[in-house]
Amino acid sequence: LAEGPLKGRHVLVTSGPTHEPIDPVRYIANRSSGAQGTALATALRDLGADVTFVTGPATVPPPEGVKVVRVETAREMLLAVQTALPAEAAIFAAAVADWRVANASLQKMKKDGTGQAPALSFAENPDILATVAQMVTGRPKLVVGFAAETENVTAHAAAKRARKGCDWIVANDVSPATGIMGGSENAVTILDDTGAESWDRMGKDEVARRLALRIATALGAS
Ligand code: C5P
Repeated sequence: LAEGPLKGRHVLVTSGPTHEPIDPVRYIANRSSGAQGTALATALRDLGADVTFVTGPATVPPPEGVKVVRVETAREMLLAVQTALPAEAAIFAAAVADWRVANASLQKMKKDGTGQAPALSFAENPDILATVAQMVTGRPKLVVGFAAETENVTAHAAAKRARKGCDWIVANDVSPATGIMGGSENAVTILDDTGAESWDRMGKDEVARRLALRIATALGAS
């Protein structure tokens, strides 16, 4: 493990999308690459933290030197997070599917020849961030969520922070004109109990390094 201000401190990071099965060979997913979560886990590792990285099926590979826990669904991610706790800080960068398929088939679904398409019904997934942020015992000292918004970024993120009960929300504007989604740069606003702090647009790795330092400061570790 690296030397650094977070040496010996356990930090949990979720990352990537989740996949929600329709049947054994099909699933519902989203376009998250896992880039943001991976950059953050890397930056925390570089400050010496003992990182557990709970990741859905991401397109970017997980960092070296962290404990990788691979999951597929939102419910598996919640279980993996609960198993990995306690942690001093928990950072929720995963793009968790809001719904799973309630009537997923145990066998591959087949066309029945009548031209009739199947109907999927959905059930709400657990909110992993809210579940951990609202833990009564063993809550991490610092719980951080992300918010990708396309309008009224600060107001929506402030409402999300209150609703979920997390300490910080890292908000960004993902409207197409910004080129942020899928791009290499980000412009974030961090909301905490003292208000909102906006950072200039910079590389996603640089955002991750600065966030990791801010996390170390919050944990009294720098
Ligand atoms: O509500 P929304 O999906 O916009 O909230 C985003 C934040 O909540 C992210 O930090 C995400 O990782 C987390 N989240 C979660 N579990 C869910 C949905 C979102 O942990 N089921």
